[in-house]
Amino acid sequence: MLMKKETRKRASTAAPLIPPHPTLRILREAAANCKACDLWKTGTQTVFGEGSSHASVMFVGEQPGDREDLAGRPFVGPAGKLLDQALTQAGIDRRNVYVTNVVKHFKWVPDERGKRRIHKKPRYSEINACRPWLDAELAIVKPQILVCLGATAAQALLGKEFSVSRRRGELVESELAPYVMATVHPSSILRAQDHESRRQQMESFVADLRRVAQLLQKSQSGVTLTIPLLKSQLTFSVGIKKWQAPEFPGSDLWAPASGHKEDSKIMNTLFDIPNESGFSCNSRRAFL
Ligand code: URA
Ligand code: SF4
Repeated sequence: MLMKKETRKRASTAAPLIPPHPTLRILREAAANCKACDLWKTGTQTVFGEGSSHASVMFVGEQPGDREDLAGRPFVGPAGKLLDQALTQAGIDRRNVYVTNVVKHFKWVPDERGKRRIHKKPRYSEINACRPWLDAELAIVKPQILVCLGATAAQALLGKEFSVSRRRGELVESELAPYVMATVHPSSILRAQDHESRRQQMESFVADLRRVAQLLQKSQSGVTLTIPLLKSQLTFSVGIKKWQAPEFPGSDLWAPASGHKEDSKIMNTLFDIPNESGFSCNSRRAFL
């Protein structure tokens, strides 16, 4: 009997390349050899994310640009310089920031004269193939705040219907981090038509980042929680997040926003919480 020929190509993914329990350094080394999609052929090298594994904010862009491709580091070209300026203006310490991209190789086409490399938007299949690297970075850094820069990152992480122009600067509900926001890509500001519109766009970008700075301050100052049933107070070192409980309308439920082990442990001990990200039904009663 003739075997049916497999016609559909299996979607490629970097997933099998992710080492178990990696550190950022181990991940970076593994990603250097990634050939999970064809972009390794056009890019000079894998441009992995950069920053501390303890960073509180993670910025995710689209893909490395020309300069990043040559340097092997993210956000070091003109868009990166503008991001640095905006971070400074918003009062966000660069040491508290991790920067990366949804796609880790530079995709480009030559210009008409064959002199310059022009950035080309990655396809869905390439974003998908590369996603396991980003998920692994998120799992290690566990940022308090995740900021998507531009439509490609926002749609990859928040759904393909997401509109940055309509929802920039808004906090978006997502499993990816306690606080998630999308804003414009700094390269869009570099493309502004004239000086005045560039100034305005920069101002709006910095305003979005100031919001991030405020959230950071809030999450770092700790929050005290009163638990009526226990007649006690708990102070969480890294912030808490309000949760809705459909079963108990009108109740205020709080969970550690940090995924911080100590906070989660306290919550687990007190309320027998089966899941680190929220409360079980029984534990919710403590807040009614
Ligand atoms: N643009 C991006 O999206 N990422 C970079 O690393 C540089 C420019
Ligand atoms: Fe691998 Fe991502 Fe590079 Fe594709 S773009 S080869 S998935 S690192």
